[in-house]
Amino acid sequence: MSMLYDQVGGSDFFIRLVDKFYEGVVGDEVLWPLYPDQSDLDGARERLALFLIQYWGGPTTYSDERGHPRLRQRHFPFAIGELERDHWLLHMQRAIDECAVDPHVHAQLTEYMVSAAQHMVNR
Ligand code: HEM
Repeated sequence: MSMLYDQVGGSDFFIRLVDKFYEGVVGDEVLWPLYPDQSDLDGARERLALFLIQYWGGPTTYSDERGHPRLRQRHFPFAIGELERDHWLLHMQRAIDECAVDPHVHAQLTEYMVSAAQHMVNR
């Protein structure tokens, strides 16, 4: 079975997905205040895109640059409760709805994001 990374056509898909997601995040009154360095939006976009590219079977640039993901641990400094999770998922779902035309890709991404966001809840 081929990897989702190939099914969506490679890295560009994830860059578009993350761009769309962050359009929502920067205007979000719950999420944007959590960002420690709001001047590094390009960096934040790149880290998330590279992580997703690696997770779905593309190049491992994320771990080459950042090491083991340990995402739950990396999110401990940010207070993430159900409200933050729901805001995060709202913007991610909008991005998926816009970018993922293939229903199977849409379903896989949605299922993963719902579970990953729940995993990040730490308050
Ligand atoms: C549930 C709500 C979430 C909130 C409020 C949240 C918030 C944040 C914040 C404030 C950062 C720092 C931005 C930066 O990189 O400089 C960050 C980083 C990051 N987030 Fe999240 N996040 C959430 C869920 C997720 C999920 C579900 C994933 C993965 C599917 C994810 C992946 C990442 C990655 C890869 C980074 C960069 C980590 C690093 O290498 O330093 N986040 N997040």
